[in-house]
Amino acid sequence: MESTKKNKTIIVILAVLLISMIGIWLSVVFNMFADKSIVRSNGFASALKLPPLLEDEDPDPSVARYTLNAQYGETIFMNNLPAPTMGYNGSYLGPILRMKQGEKVSIRVNNSMDEETTVHWHGLVVPGEQDGGPHQVIEPGESWTPSFTVAQPAATLWYHPHALKTTSTQVYYGLAGLIYIEDESQMSKSLPNEYGVNDFPLIVQDRNFNSDGSLSYRTDMMGILPGNTVLVNGTLKPYLDIRREEVRFRVLNGSNSENFVFRLSDGSSFRQIATDGGFMREPVVSKTLTLSPGERAEVLVDFRNVDAEAVNLLLYDTPILKLRLSGKPLGEARDTIPQSDAADIPVGANPRERVFIMESMGINGTINGKSFDQHRIDEEIGLNETEIWTIYSRRGMMMRSGGHPFHVHGTQFQVISRNGKEPPKEERGFKDTVFVDEGEEVRIKIRFTQTGVFMYHCHILEHEENGMMGQVKVIP
Ligand code: C2O
Ligand code: CU
Ligand code: CU
Repeated sequence: MESTKKNKTIIVILAVLLISMIGIWLSVVFNMFADKSIVRSNGFASALKLPPLLEDEDPDPSVARYTLNAQYGETIFMNNLPAPTMGYNGSYLGPILRMKQGEKVSIRVNNSMDEETTVHWHGLVVPGEQDGGPHQVIEPGESWTPSFTVAQPAATLWYHPHALKTTSTQVYYGLAGLIYIEDESQMSKSLPNEYGVNDFPLIVQDRNFNSDGSLSYRTDMMGILPGNTVLVNGTLKPYLDIRREEVRFRVLNGSNSENFVFRLSDGSSFRQIATDGGFMREPVVSKTLTLSPGERAEVLVDFRNVDAEAVNLLLYDTPILKLRLSGKPLGEARDTIPQSDAADIPVGANPRERVFIMESMGINGTINGKSFDQHRIDEEIGLNETEIWTIYSRRGMMMRSGGHPFHVHGTQFQVISRNGKEPPKEERGFKDTVFVDEGEEVRIKIRFTQTGVFMYHCHILEHEENGMMGQVKVIP
């Protein structure tokens, strides 16, 4: 009797185990199919979306006035399935804000959502009060109207939310847009600058989707799950029609946490002409472009001698944008590129030095051992005083940290060295974000020309939101 009972129990346990294993396998198999069908369903069939250029509401050419509405919406990414999203003046991403060097700009930002937000102008050199960091909260239904004079040369910058605890999800669901600073320099005049013809923005973001076509923002102890799809300007697997000419791309790594390496499928090289803060003194010829979250680059690709009908833009080895070429070669070969004449940041005899140690443990992190506190000023610095900062990324004790993109608000800095050596060519321009891999040490020279309180943080948004941020106060 006893042993039959035992046998029955064992059989029941085995059956339960078998059924649950079948369940797990089925869900794995289903997930595999789900992911594949997502990727397969959009084989470069839709045209690359281009964000609209926002209309300046002020007729005075020396003044620009803009309105942004942060709002909820619905966006179709795949299979005619509408997904709940967020956008500025639209359902996903936002329009391009154009500003001229020297221009007076005011932007009214309305928060039409039912959660707190802010809008931060990433890379813009403006006083702390206008910067849109965590202190400039816009409550639901409220608005905020910063105004400032553009004090920097041509560059591709961007804007995104920065409120505590809502930044990463709001960006993930679509709140982000580009800022184009324009100037009168020779370089600006001679480069391709016809928007949507030979000058294109590429906002690249990795995303996960649910099988109903909605975005899936998922984190665990380690951070956000890397996306299994890639959006360019909010379009999944898009194509772009271009002529056989020299084309300018302004690329933003708009990912929450992933590093990106781009190249062209035909293996051809291109010229990088700008870093985060604007044109470089020396363009860099390369076959790959590496960007960490928050970083931008402008590149020139010469398609005049490409016979193929299409070239793919690859992210690592995955095609993310099909460039369809047409027509005869246009324009002339360019052997020289005008160079930026932006002056280096001057350094005095005994610059003050500071050290910033970034450390993360899964999704949480600290800078100099401290977790972010909105009510604590971590550093004080004099206005217009150049300092040398050493940024160090501590190796993870138990798990790899993967490195951190270090970003500073309200200024553009210059990299002096990476691991004691001269920085690579592509980092010898003005930067507001610099990647510091595990165990690496990057030295920068930095100067603030505007007063107020500014954030510095890791631009992995999940790290920023979980402690890896500090505040510097610039004192006149
Ligand atoms: Cu892109 Cu604190 O910013
Ligand atoms: Cu910023
Ligand atoms: Cu980080």
